[in-house]
Amino acid sequence: MISSSAARVGDRFRRHSGLVVLALALGLLGTMYAAFAPVSQADEQKTTASAEDVREGQQLFEGGCITCHGRNAQGVQDRGPSLIGVGAASVEFQVGTGRMPMARNEAQAVRKPALYDDKQTRQLAAYVESIGGGPQLPSGELRSTDKDVIAEGGRLFRLNCSSCHAFGMGGGALSSGKFAPSLQPSTDRDLYAAMLTGPQNMPVFGDNQLTRDEKKAIISYVQAQKGDQDPGGAGIGRTGPVPEGLVVFLVGIVGLLIATLWIAGKS
Ligand code: HEC
Ligand code: HEC
Repeated sequence: MISSSAARVGDRFRRHSGLVVLALALGLLGTMYAAFAPVSQADEQKTTASAEDVREGQQLFEGGCITCHGRNAQGVQDRGPSLIGVGAASVEFQVGTGRMPMARNEAQAVRKPALYDDKQTRQLAAYVESIGGGPQLPSGELRSTDKDVIAEGGRLFRLNCSSCHAFGMGGGALSSGKFAPSLQPSTDRDLYAAMLTGPQNMPVFGDNQLTRDEKKAIISYVQAQKGDQDPGGAGIGRTGPVPEGLVVFLVGIVGLLIATLWIAGKS
Protein backbone atom coordinates (compact mmCIF):
# COMPACT_ATOMS: atom_id res chain seq x y z
CA MET A 1 0.00 0.00 0.00
CA ILE A 2 2.63 2.44 1.17
CA SER A 3 4.99 1.49 -1.61
CA SER A 4 2.32 1.95 -4.28
CA SER A 5 1.40 5.45 -2.98
CA ALA A 6 5.08 6.30 -2.85
CA ALA A 7 5.33 5.18 -6.46
CA ARG A 8 2.34 7.44 -7.28
CA VAL A 9 4.05 10.38 -5.60
CA GLY A 10 7.22 9.56 -7.48
CA ASP A 11 5.19 9.34 -10.67
CA ARG A 12 3.61 12.69 -10.08
CA PHE A 13 7.00 14.16 -9.25
CA ARG A 14 8.39 12.77 -12.48
CA ARG A 15 5.47 14.23 -14.42
CA HIS A 16 5.92 17.58 -12.71
CA SER A 17 9.65 17.58 -13.12
CA GLY A 18 8.99 17.22 -16.84
CA LEU A 19 6.90 20.37 -16.66
CA VAL A 20 9.59 22.15 -14.65
CA VAL A 21 12.21 21.25 -17.23
CA LEU A 22 9.90 22.46 -19.98
CA ALA A 23 9.28 25.76 -18.16
CA LEU A 24 13.00 26.22 -17.59
CA ALA A 25 13.74 25.51 -21.24
CA LEU A 26 11.09 28.00 -22.35
CA GLY A 27 12.44 30.62 -19.94
CA LEU A 28 15.95 30.07 -21.24
CA LEU A 29 14.71 30.35 -24.81
CA GLY A 30 12.99 33.63 -23.95
CA THR A 31 16.10 35.06 -22.36
CA MET A 32 18.23 34.00 -25.31
CA TYR A 33 15.76 35.56 -27.70
CA ALA A 34 15.79 38.81 -25.76
CA ALA A 35 19.60 38.80 -25.81
CA PHE A 36 19.98 37.96 -29.48
CA ALA A 37 16.84 39.55 -30.91
CA PRO A 38 17.47 41.42 -34.18
CA VAL A 39 18.43 45.05 -33.62
CA SER A 40 15.98 46.15 -36.32
CA GLN A 41 13.38 46.33 -33.58
CA ALA A 42 15.34 48.98 -31.71
CA ASP A 43 16.02 50.61 -35.06
CA GLU A 44 12.34 51.27 -35.62
CA GLN A 45 11.83 52.55 -32.11
CA LYS A 46 11.37 56.28 -31.77
CA THR A 47 13.75 58.18 -29.59
CA THR A 48 12.03 58.70 -26.29
CA ALA A 49 13.11 61.84 -24.49
CA SER A 50 13.11 62.05 -20.72
CA ALA A 51 11.31 64.73 -18.74
CA GLU A 52 14.76 65.95 -17.75
CA ASP A 53 15.66 66.54 -21.43
CA VAL A 54 12.42 68.45 -21.97
CA ARG A 55 13.15 70.67 -18.96
CA GLU A 56 16.72 71.36 -20.10
CA GLY A 57 15.43 72.00 -23.61
CA GLN A 58 12.93 74.52 -22.36
CA GLN A 59 15.69 76.42 -20.58
CA LEU A 60 17.82 76.50 -23.73
CA PHE A 61 14.79 77.58 -25.73
CA GLU A 62 14.05 80.44 -23.37
CA GLY A 63 17.67 81.53 -23.61
CA GLY A 64 18.12 81.41 -27.38
CA CYS A 65 14.91 81.08 -29.34
CA ILE A 66 12.11 82.80 -27.46
CA THR A 67 12.75 86.27 -28.96
CA CYS A 68 11.78 85.03 -32.42
CA HIS A 69 9.63 81.97 -31.75
CA GLY A 70 7.79 83.22 -28.70
CA ARG A 71 6.76 81.80 -25.34
CA ASN A 72 5.49 78.23 -25.82
CA ALA A 73 6.88 78.37 -29.37
CA GLN A 74 3.69 79.85 -30.79
CA GLY A 75 5.64 82.25 -33.00
CA VAL A 76 6.25 86.01 -33.07
CA GLN A 77 4.85 88.23 -35.81
CA ASP A 78 7.54 89.22 -38.37
CA ARG A 79 10.27 87.45 -36.40
CA GLY A 80 9.79 83.72 -36.49
CA PRO A 81 7.10 81.13 -37.26
CA SER A 82 5.25 78.97 -34.77
CA LEU A 83 7.05 75.73 -34.02
CA ILE A 84 3.98 73.86 -32.86
CA GLY A 85 3.84 70.56 -34.67
CA VAL A 86 7.15 70.95 -36.57
CA GLY A 87 8.52 68.03 -34.58
CA ALA A 88 11.91 67.02 -33.22
CA ALA A 89 13.19 66.31 -36.73
CA SER A 90 12.82 69.93 -37.83
CA VAL A 91 14.59 71.23 -34.73
CA GLU A 92 17.41 68.73 -35.12
CA PHE A 93 17.84 69.82 -38.72
CA GLN A 94 17.66 73.57 -38.11
CA VAL A 95 19.81 73.61 -34.98
CA GLY A 96 22.11 70.74 -35.99
CA THR A 97 23.08 72.43 -39.26
CA GLY A 98 23.60 75.75 -37.48
CA ARG A 99 20.73 77.42 -39.37
CA MET A 100 19.07 78.23 -36.04
CA PRO A 101 19.35 80.41 -34.09
CA MET A 102 19.10 82.69 -37.08
CA ALA A 103 21.52 85.60 -36.81
CA ARG A 104 19.34 88.11 -38.66
CA ASN A 105 16.31 88.00 -40.91
CA GLU A 106 17.51 86.85 -44.30
CA ALA A 107 15.89 85.28 -47.38
CA GLN A 108 17.14 81.87 -46.32
CA ALA A 109 18.74 80.64 -43.14
CA VAL A 110 22.15 79.27 -44.11
CA ARG A 111 24.27 76.48 -42.76
CA LYS A 112 26.86 77.67 -40.25
CA PRO A 113 28.82 76.11 -37.39
CA ALA A 114 26.29 74.75 -34.88
CA LEU A 115 25.89 76.81 -31.71
CA TYR A 116 24.58 73.89 -29.64
CA ASP A 117 26.18 70.48 -29.18
CA ASP A 118 24.38 67.23 -30.04
CA LYS A 119 22.96 66.78 -26.56
CA GLN A 120 21.60 70.31 -26.35
CA THR A 121 20.16 70.01 -29.85
CA ARG A 122 18.26 66.90 -28.85
CA GLN A 123 17.06 68.61 -25.68
CA LEU A 124 15.73 71.54 -27.70
CA ALA A 125 14.10 69.04 -30.04
CA ALA A 126 12.57 67.17 -27.10
CA TYR A 127 11.10 70.39 -25.77
CA VAL A 128 9.52 71.44 -29.07
CA GLU A 129 8.29 67.88 -29.59
CA SER A 130 6.68 67.93 -26.15
CA ILE A 131 4.60 70.98 -27.09
CA GLY A 132 3.09 69.96 -30.38
CA GLY A 133 4.36 66.55 -31.50
CA GLY A 134 5.41 66.13 -35.12
CA PRO A 135 7.88 64.06 -37.10
CA GLN A 136 10.85 62.45 -35.35
CA LEU A 137 13.99 60.90 -36.72
CA PRO A 138 14.37 57.14 -36.33
CA SER A 139 17.24 56.04 -34.12
CA GLY A 140 19.87 53.63 -35.33
CA GLU A 141 21.85 53.20 -38.54
CA LEU A 142 20.60 55.24 -41.50
CA ARG A 143 23.19 54.09 -44.01
CA SER A 144 23.94 50.86 -45.82
CA THR A 145 27.07 49.81 -47.73
CA ASP A 146 25.16 47.22 -49.79
CA LYS A 147 25.87 47.80 -53.50
CA ASP A 148 22.26 47.21 -54.56
CA VAL A 149 20.93 49.64 -51.95
CA ILE A 150 23.39 52.30 -53.12
CA ALA A 151 22.40 51.77 -56.75
CA GLU A 152 18.72 52.08 -55.85
CA GLY A 153 19.57 55.23 -53.87
CA GLY A 154 21.24 56.67 -56.95
CA ARG A 155 18.13 56.05 -59.02
CA LEU A 156 15.93 57.71 -56.39
CA PHE A 157 18.34 60.62 -56.01
CA ARG A 158 18.31 61.36 -59.75
CA LEU A 159 14.53 61.14 -59.71
CA ASN A 160 13.80 63.25 -56.61
CA CYS A 161 16.75 65.41 -55.66
CA SER A 162 19.11 66.16 -58.54
CA SER A 163 16.79 68.72 -60.14
CA CYS A 164 17.65 71.10 -57.28
CA HIS A 165 20.83 69.74 -55.72
CA ALA A 166 22.48 68.78 -59.07
CA PHE A 167 23.81 65.38 -60.09
CA GLY A 168 27.14 66.07 -58.43
CA MET A 169 25.33 67.22 -55.24
CA GLY A 170 26.98 70.65 -55.44
CA GLY A 171 23.61 72.43 -55.19
CA GLY A 172 22.23 75.20 -57.36
CA ALA A 173 20.33 78.48 -57.50
CA LEU A 174 16.54 78.64 -57.24
CA SER A 175 14.30 81.64 -57.89
CA SER A 176 14.23 84.87 -55.82
CA GLY A 177 17.61 84.68 -54.16
CA LYS A 178 17.09 81.19 -52.76
CA PHE A 179 19.28 78.22 -53.42
CA ALA A 180 19.56 74.49 -52.86
CA PRO A 181 22.78 74.03 -50.88
CA SER A 182 25.58 71.57 -51.49
CA LEU A 183 25.14 68.22 -49.75
CA GLN A 184 28.85 67.84 -49.03
CA PRO A 185 28.67 68.78 -45.32
CA SER A 186 25.41 66.90 -44.63
CA THR A 187 25.43 64.07 -42.10
CA ASP A 188 23.13 61.03 -42.31
CA ARG A 189 20.73 62.61 -39.84
CA ASP A 190 20.77 65.98 -41.68
CA LEU A 191 19.79 64.18 -44.87
CA TYR A 192 17.01 62.19 -43.23
CA ALA A 193 15.68 65.26 -41.42
CA ALA A 194 15.79 67.43 -44.56
CA MET A 195 13.72 64.86 -46.46
CA LEU A 196 11.30 64.38 -43.59
CA THR A 197 10.71 68.07 -42.91
CA GLY A 198 11.33 69.83 -46.25
CA PRO A 199 12.97 73.08 -45.08
CA GLN A 200 11.99 76.24 -46.98
CA ASN A 201 11.61 75.58 -50.72
CA MET A 202 12.45 71.92 -50.45
CA PRO A 203 9.45 69.59 -50.75
CA VAL A 204 8.57 67.30 -47.85
CA PHE A 205 9.31 63.66 -48.60
CA GLY A 206 7.03 61.98 -46.08
CA ASP A 207 6.93 58.23 -45.65
CA ASN A 208 4.28 58.03 -48.41
CA GLN A 209 6.53 59.71 -50.98
CA LEU A 210 9.72 57.93 -49.95
CA THR A 211 9.56 55.02 -47.53
CA ARG A 212 12.08 54.78 -44.69
CA ASP A 213 14.11 52.28 -46.69
CA GLU A 214 14.10 54.54 -49.74
CA LYS A 215 15.30 57.47 -47.63
CA LYS A 216 18.06 55.27 -46.23
CA ALA A 217 18.99 54.19 -49.77
CA ILE A 218 19.33 57.85 -50.83
CA ILE A 219 21.49 58.58 -47.77
CA SER A 220 23.66 55.56 -48.58
CA TYR A 221 24.10 56.79 -52.14
CA VAL A 222 24.88 60.40 -51.21
CA GLN A 223 27.44 59.40 -48.58
CA ALA A 224 29.01 56.75 -50.82
CA GLN A 225 29.49 59.32 -53.60
CA LYS A 226 31.43 61.59 -51.26
CA GLY A 227 33.91 58.95 -50.20
CA ASP A 228 34.11 57.34 -53.61
CA GLN A 229 37.14 58.85 -55.31
CA ASP A 230 38.47 55.35 -56.00
CA PRO A 231 39.21 54.82 -59.72
CA GLY A 232 38.93 51.06 -59.26
CA GLY A 233 41.32 48.21 -60.08
CA ALA A 234 44.27 47.13 -57.95
CA GLY A 235 45.32 50.01 -55.72
CA ILE A 236 48.77 50.94 -57.02
CA GLY A 237 48.91 54.26 -55.25
CA ARG A 238 45.26 54.68 -56.35
CA THR A 239 46.40 56.63 -59.42
CA GLY A 240 44.19 54.92 -61.98
CA PRO A 241 44.48 52.61 -64.99
CA VAL A 242 47.64 54.05 -66.60
CA PRO A 243 50.12 53.02 -63.90
CA GLU A 244 48.25 49.74 -63.59
CA GLY A 245 48.86 49.05 -67.29
CA LEU A 246 52.51 49.99 -66.84
CA VAL A 247 52.92 47.52 -64.00
CA VAL A 248 51.27 44.73 -66.00
CA PHE A 249 53.48 45.59 -68.99
CA LEU A 250 56.72 45.55 -66.96
CA VAL A 251 55.83 42.31 -65.19
CA GLY A 252 54.98 40.71 -68.53
CA ILE A 253 58.22 41.86 -70.23
CA VAL A 254 60.38 40.69 -67.34
CA GLY A 255 58.55 37.34 -67.37
CA LEU A 256 59.17 36.95 -71.10
CA LEU A 257 62.86 37.84 -70.69
CA ILE A 258 63.31 35.24 -67.97
CA ALA A 259 61.53 32.65 -70.10
CA THR A 260 63.76 33.46 -73.11
CA LEU A 261 66.96 33.30 -71.05
CA TRP A 262 65.84 30.01 -69.56
CA ILE A 263 65.15 28.49 -72.97
CA ALA A 264 68.45 29.90 -74.34
CA GLY A 265 70.34 28.44 -71.37
CA LYS A 266 68.87 24.97 -72.00
CA SER A 267 69.91 24.74 -75.64
C1 HEC B 1 16.45 85.94 -35.12
C2 HEC B 1 15.26 85.18 -35.06
C3 HEC B 1 15.34 83.68 -34.78
C4 HEC B 1 15.96 83.04 -33.74
C5 HEC B 1 16.79 83.64 -32.62
C6 HEC B 1 15.64 81.64 -33.88
N1 HEC B 1 14.86 81.46 -34.99
FE1 HEC B 1 14.12 79.68 -35.69
N2 HEC B 1 13.34 80.58 -37.31
C7 HEC B 1 13.37 81.96 -37.54
C8 HEC B 1 12.78 82.22 -38.85
C9 HEC B 1 12.64 83.59 -39.48
C10 HEC B 1 12.40 80.95 -39.37
C11 HEC B 1 11.81 80.67 -40.73
C12 HEC B 1 13.00 80.64 -41.65
C13 HEC B 1 12.93 79.71 -42.76
O1 HEC B 1 11.85 79.31 -43.15
O2 HEC B 1 14.01 79.36 -43.26
C14 HEC B 1 12.75 79.97 -38.38
C15 HEC B 1 12.52 78.62 -38.53
C16 HEC B 1 12.77 77.68 -37.55
C17 HEC B 1 12.42 76.29 -37.65
C18 HEC B 1 11.75 75.61 -38.83
C19 HEC B 1 10.28 75.63 -38.63
C20 HEC B 1 9.58 74.75 -39.62
O3 HEC B 1 8.56 75.18 -40.13
O4 HEC B 1 10.03 73.62 -39.85
C21 HEC B 1 12.81 75.69 -36.48
C22 HEC B 1 12.65 74.23 -36.10
C23 HEC B 1 13.43 76.71 -35.66
N3 HEC B 1 13.39 77.91 -36.33
C24 HEC B 1 13.96 76.49 -34.42
C25 HEC B 1 14.67 77.45 -33.69
C26 HEC B 1 15.31 77.19 -32.43
C27 HEC B 1 15.31 75.84 -31.71
C28 HEC B 1 15.94 78.33 -32.05
C29 HEC B 1 16.78 78.56 -30.82
C30 HEC B 1 17.96 77.75 -30.71
C31 HEC B 1 15.64 79.35 -33.06
N4 HEC B 1 14.86 78.76 -34.04
C32 HEC B 1 16.06 80.65 -33.01
C33 HEC B 1 13.89 82.92 -36.71
C34 HEC B 1 14.64 82.67 -35.57
C1 HEC C 1 12.62 71.93 -55.22
C2 HEC C 1 14.02 71.85 -54.90
C3 HEC C 1 14.54 70.75 -53.97
C4 HEC C 1 14.41 69.38 -54.11
C5 HEC C 1 13.69 68.61 -55.20
C6 HEC C 1 15.19 68.82 -53.02
N1 HEC C 1 15.72 69.80 -52.24
FE1 HEC C 1 16.92 69.56 -50.64
N2 HEC C 1 16.97 71.57 -50.33
C7 HEC C 1 16.34 72.50 -51.11
C8 HEC C 1 16.49 73.82 -50.51
C9 HEC C 1 15.96 75.12 -51.04
C10 HEC C 1 17.24 73.64 -49.33
C11 HEC C 1 17.68 74.71 -48.31
C12 HEC C 1 16.65 74.83 -47.23
C13 HEC C 1 17.08 75.77 -46.14
O1 HEC C 1 18.22 76.20 -46.11
O2 HEC C 1 16.25 76.05 -45.25
C14 HEC C 1 17.54 72.22 -49.25
C15 HEC C 1 18.30 71.65 -48.25
C16 HEC C 1 18.66 70.31 -48.20
C17 HEC C 1 19.57 69.75 -47.25
C18 HEC C 1 20.34 70.49 -46.18
C19 HEC C 1 21.75 70.69 -46.63
C20 HEC C 1 22.59 71.37 -45.58
O3 HEC C 1 22.97 72.51 -45.75
O4 HEC C 1 22.83 70.75 -44.57
C21 HEC C 1 19.65 68.42 -47.51
C22 HEC C 1 20.48 67.39 -46.77
C23 HEC C 1 18.79 68.15 -48.64
N3 HEC C 1 18.20 69.33 -49.04
C24 HEC C 1 18.58 66.90 -49.20
C25 HEC C 1 17.69 66.64 -50.25
C26 HEC C 1 17.40 65.32 -50.75
C27 HEC C 1 18.04 64.05 -50.26
C28 HEC C 1 16.46 65.47 -51.74
C29 HEC C 1 15.78 64.38 -52.55
C30 HEC C 1 15.07 63.37 -51.81
C31 HEC C 1 16.19 66.89 -51.87
N4 HEC C 1 16.94 67.58 -50.96
C32 HEC C 1 15.32 67.45 -52.81
C33 HEC C 1 15.67 72.26 -52.29
C34 HEC C 1 15.35 71.01 -52.79
